[in-house]
Amino acid sequence: MKKMLDKFEDYLNSNLPSSKTFHPHFESALEDMLKAGGKRFRPMLLLSVVNSKNPLLVSNSLPVALGVEFLHTYSLVHDDLPAMDDADLRRGFQTLHKKYDEVTAILVGDALNTHSFNLLANAPLSNDIKIELIKTLSSDGGIDGMIIGQAIDCHFENQKLKLDELEFLHLHKTAKLIAASLKMGGIIAQYDSSLQDKLYNFGMDIGLLFQIQDDIIDETQSEEEAGKTTHNDNAKNSFVNLLGLKGAIDAADSLAAKCEEQLACLDEKLKHSLDELLHKYLHRHK
Ligand code: IPE
Ligand code: IPE
Ligand code: MG
Ligand code: MG
Ligand code: MG
Repeated sequence: MKKMLDKFEDYLNSNLPSSKTFHPHFESALEDMLKAGGKRFRPMLLLSVVNSKNPLLVSNSLPVALGVEFLHTYSLVHDDLPAMDDADLRRGFQTLHKKYDEVTAILVGDALNTHSFNLLANAPLSNDIKIELIKTLSSDGGIDGMIIGQAIDCHFENQKLKLDELEFLHLHKTAKLIAASLKMGGIIAQYDSSLQDKLYNFGMDIGLLFQIQDDIIDETQSEEEAGKTTHNDNAKNSFVNLLGLKGAIDAADSLAAKCEEQLACLDEKLKHSLDELLHKYLHRHK
């Protein structure tokens, strides 16, 4: 696993989209949040699925994994903007609108979003596979997924959602991109469509768990520990606000148990490959 993450970081560092112009800081701003790190959870999910089928396919999948990370990083840059969550710290560094200005942060987000699809389109994979990948990322990271989730998250600040609405919000905002990452690994590996669906559904549970844990982190960690602004969810339909801290931890515990059951039902190679990555995530709220 270490090796695959290293490969990914090397690929990222040698594929930063930095053709230098006479803009005084745009190109540095474009690189800042990518180089700042982060857990790289989504690209590692994708690469772990590919690796379970054929380790030789991992290299050709790196541009796709990077595309997913670009799209996710754009979502964080925009999420932190004053009009959205208004946060000063991200991945251990000042947010882009703080370090530079809002225009820069908006445009860096736009550039990371569009460039993610450029990375997918230019990957050394068959055109049929690339079209499926682009469909999946544009849908789950776009209007049928992350975007509508973010829109609902921000619109309904200070208005309590019903339980089914709350679930819709978090499945769209966070879980769909995580589910898409697993499915995209399945598309590259050419796993059959029923296994792709199984991976996607598993990803929806992992993604919901990931957001419950993120809401717990907002409540329990300092910004130094989390590397991002915390105690920032007061107005949000977060799991902690809805269920209380204990209720959110209990919900995370039971979803983690469900994810473990699903993991155990996967075939041996897939289970082994994902287990290496997931064991440190399933109980990170403890
Ligand atoms: C944070 O995502 C935003 C959520 C969807 C919860 P991550 O926790 O994956 O952030 P990084 O990539 O590690 O910075
Ligand atoms: C963000 O959720 C989800 C995204 C799609 C970026 P949060 O607003 O809870 O993420 P953090 O806590 O700022 O990382
Ligand atoms: Mg947010
Ligand atoms: Mg936020
Ligand atoms: Mg959060």
